[in-house]
Amino acid sequence: MYLIQALLITAQVALAAITPGSLSQVTENFGSNPRKVGFYIYVPTKLSENPPIVVASHHCQGTAPGYFKSSNYKPLADKHGFIIIYPNSPYSGTCFDMSSKATLTHDGGGDTTGIANMVRWTLEKYKANPKKVFAFGTSSGAMMTNVLAATYPDLFAAAIVYAGVPAGCFMSSANAINAWNSTCANGQSSASSEKWASVVKNMYPGYTGPRPRMQIYHGGADTTLKPNNYKETIKQWAGVFGFDAEKPASKAAGPSGFTSSRWGSPVVQLEGNFNPSVGHNLQVFGSRDMEWFGIA
Ligand SMILES: *[C@@H]1O[C@H](CO)[C@@H](O)[C@H](O)[C@H]1NC(C)=O
Repeated sequence: MYLIQALLITAQVALAAITPGSLSQVTENFGSNPRKVGFYIYVPTKLSENPPIVVASHHCQGTAPGYFKSSNYKPLADKHGFIIIYPNSPYSGTCFDMSSKATLTHDGGGDTTGIANMVRWTLEKYKANPKKVFAFGTSSGAMMTNVLAATYPDLFAAAIVYAGVPAGCFMSSANAINAWNSTCANGQSSASSEKWASVVKNMYPGYTGPRPRMQIYHGGADTTLKPNNYKETIKQWAGVFGFDAEKPASKAAGPSGFTSSRWGSPVVQLEGNFNPSVGHNLQVFGSRDMEWFGIA
């Protein structure tokens, strides 16, 4: 009897353990996570000292294990010794909640709070570098990345957005959780730089510290989140940093047919990458991401 109990407990601990070199699900209590966002983690077998952390957020219809494969970050984490956190949407359809007031607020009790607590827990457990916490994501995960940058500027140093919308653009006037916002998706939510910047600032009122460096990618043939969302997102972060969205400091050829516009010098704070001929399903430029994060 006791032996069986002991064996069962051992098996449970083994199931819950984080295995370096494999994607693992964290089942232990890591802090407040009111929406029960799933927590997957990848810890490389050779972890660097004071490792960076990267939060990787999946698209709708996606999952943490699916994005672990498709974003192809494992070889990068193995090479550079950083930890990856993969949040997993708890909703059917597996978008993240980008519409409720709770998720759009610093420690407001939404999805973003759960993810922030994954980061805080990982920082502590692995003695990770609090100055090297980054985020990227695709589509719903790109929206999440923008919103994490807005709600937790104290946690994130840089972020990369693959086909998203401005932070707050998916807000629901009825304060619904995980609501689709067609006005925004269709590119009809348009505002001034100042207005969009105030949406960001209102997600963490009173915060005066540094803001994450933002890199944005969008395709001009995107029919899911219409390309005007690129313009609005650039306006938003330009407003936050105090740049003129119409006047990048430089413009150059980027990767795979994208044109890169940059604001800020000598440190680039904002980079927009636009390719008129690609649609919604953007590839993740992993090694270029490493440069933006300053990991490479
Ligand atoms: C959709 O988002 C916009 C802001 O982008 C907001 O003004 C509008 O009320 C939202 N629509 C709904 C139905 O909640």
